[in-house]
Amino acid sequence: MAGPRRPCRNPAFSMDRYAVIGNPISHSLSPRIHARFAAQLDDPVEYTALLAPLDGFASVARAFLDDGGRGANVTLPFKIEAFELAHVSSRRAREAGAANFLARRDGRIEADNTDGAGLVADLARNLGVGLRGARILLVGAGGAARGVVMPLLAERPARLVIANRDAARAGALAARFAAQGAVHACALDAIPADGFDLVVNATSASTKGEPLALPEAAWRGAPLAYDMAYGPAARPFLAAAHAHGARASDGLGMLVEQAAESWFLWRGRRPATGEVIAALRAGAA
Ligand code: ATR
Repeated sequence: MAGPRRPCRNPAFSMDRYAVIGNPISHSLSPRIHARFAAQLDDPVEYTALLAPLDGFASVARAFLDDGGRGANVTLPFKIEAFELAHVSSRRAREAGAANFLARRDGRIEADNTDGAGLVADLARNLGVGLRGARILLVGAGGAARGVVMPLLAERPARLVIANRDAARAGALAARFAAQGAVHACALDAIPADGFDLVVNATSASTKGEPLALPEAAWRGAPLAYDMAYGPAARPFLAAAHAHGARASDGLGMLVEQAAESWFLWRGRRPATGEVIAALRAGAA
């Protein structure tokens, strides 16, 4: 006797759909990262890269989510617009004033920000940096910096100094988080000289092809230097760090960790990140 008939299932029609939206977007590693997560967890999804016009993020994101897309990652320059588009947002997104994560649930668009969690996970888990009690210098006071201040403070560093070319902007950012921990602000040429354990570059200088001139004080204490950018954009900062005898890392691990956090929020399981970072570094992903 024939057994029960299995429903005919074509994965192409039933896979959950996700996307990364940005401008530019062709360089994005996110589709490769999420394809690796899907294979690792045997949980196939469709994850594509979507280019939105600079004045058209909201309509591209809404169209994708209205058309059945389950969620999206959002990259430059749309993270603030993504936050504003959502009906509900997490505390992390509200603190950052920006979102790199959207999910459609029960007809509503939810926003979160997994960038800070990605940075902390890469520093603490992959690079073995103890953040509790650490002296941290955060260079930059724009959107990228704003997204990581609270997650860094949550690790209870001894102090977090925000240094920026425009000192007033650093001051405003430090004031915003003053109740959350020992956070200070200064101009780039007034960085305190008593030493740091970690220096994080959150400026857009190298992505714009501009030099980032840091005084000697930034390197005192032989810190780990971490650039939140990855690939060629991180090279000038990493070269400066090496020239000062510092250990250095680009932000590839942060990229993979923020993606893993996104995957966890969407699908409830946490991918292993080490093998994905290694594959990307080897150019095999
Ligand atoms: P993002 O969202 O990428 O952070 P942003 O909000 O425009 O972009 O912020 C860019 C950051 O990089 C700012 O801290 C900016 O310093 P200013 O606030 O003084 O403009 C910093 N930055 C950009 N180019 C720089 C350069 N050549 N030297 C030093 N800092 C630079």
